Amino acid sequence: MRGFNDRFLKACRREPTDCTPVWFMRQAGRYQPEYRQLRKKHSLLEIAKTPELCAEVTLLPVRQLGVDAAILFSDIMLPLGPMGVRFQIQENVGPVIERPIREPKDVERLRPLELEEDLPSVLEAIRLLRQELEVPLIGFAGAPFTLASYLIEGGPSRAFLRTKALMYRHPGLWHRLLEKLTDSVAKFLKAQAQAGAQALQVFDSWVGCLSTLDYREYVQFHMRRLFAELKELEAPIIHFGVGTGELLELMKEAGGDVIGLDWRVEMDQAWASLGYDSAVQGNLDPAVLLGPWDVIERRALEVLEQAGGRPGHIFNLGHGVLPETPPDALKRLVELVHERSTQKEIHDERT
Ligand code: CP3
Repeated sequence: MRGFNDRFLKACRREPTDCTPVWFMRQAGRYQPEYRQLRKKHSLLEIAKTPELCAEVTLLPVRQLGVDAAILFSDIMLPLGPMGVRFQIQENVGPVIERPIREPKDVERLRPLELEEDLPSVLEAIRLLRQELEVPLIGFAGAPFTLASYLIEGGPSRAFLRTKALMYRHPGLWHRLLEKLTDSVAKFLKAQAQAGAQALQVFDSWVGCLSTLDYREYVQFHMRRLFAELKELEAPIIHFGVGTGELLELMKEAGGDVIGLDWRVEMDQAWASLGYDSAVQGNLDPAVLLGPWDVIERRALEVLEQAGGRPGHIFNLGHGVLPETPPDALKRLVELVHERSTQKEIHDERT
């Protein structure tokens, strides 16, 4: 037994660590031969809703890569089922909603989240994992905007025009929808923390499509309320979105102990403008891992150097691991981050 590795939790709290903690969004997934093998027998939702399978998949990257945190294997769509939404996860497409939201009665029909339906298995997986893991377990949920975008578009989207049209044309309905989603997301995150998740990540993956003006007017209020609801929890919360360079400060105002950065921003500028009273997570471009090792190494060291060895940096990619990623590159990257961020070396490099 090596004992419990808590450098990820320390970094969330901006406490000094022996070296920079690292984990990867989508670290359990299609880039792994073992995962693809399992997917031949079980669907994504089957794996997510079967505690033993969920735990097995969640543990794979922890054992293979040596990352400093585990993230529960699931999908942001999962809590929508118990709210009365019927959807499928289509291979190479993503979530597809049976009856997208088009009018007020579609919003009224959404039920408040019942934890007793579908989700007990998720909470059971968390309890199982806590017995196995020697690194912290991250629970997560989709943010209200990102979930609303799937409910309104009916599936993945590039421009989110239906979502924006509903927001501008029917602001009352929009706010009602976000309010309902906020209630359910808060309830689900609290339940995950109570079941044993030691940190939580809120994925507002698609909120980067909004202007700062629209974020302020249509989203920020709900995010503030979400984080206020979670204040009582001990678990630190990571607040992440993609393409959010312009929104980072508004996201920080809304809440979160750690702000997730995508690869479009530079670590040093983004952290400086957020202020060092926030921890940050990121932000290597996941596509860099498709390049040769010398490029991966150069870009990863740039991230570390820009973070400057300051407490409160969690190394991650700027978004999820791509299916084409060679597993060995990830393993080597974890080793690199650990080796090259030990407090002594960072110090030496700067002097
Ligand atoms: O490689 C894999 O991850 C395969 C398994 C898979 C997941 N979701 C796991 C998941 C698949 C095929 C999906 C369906 C899905 N759900 C898609 C299509 C994915 C694709 O690439 O084909 C999408 C876009 C969704 C919606 C979704 N799920 C979003 C927007 C997020 C937030 C993270 C993000 O990518 O922005 C999720 C979360 C998610 N899906 C997780 C997992 C294991 C948890 C987060 C994590 O592991 O980092």
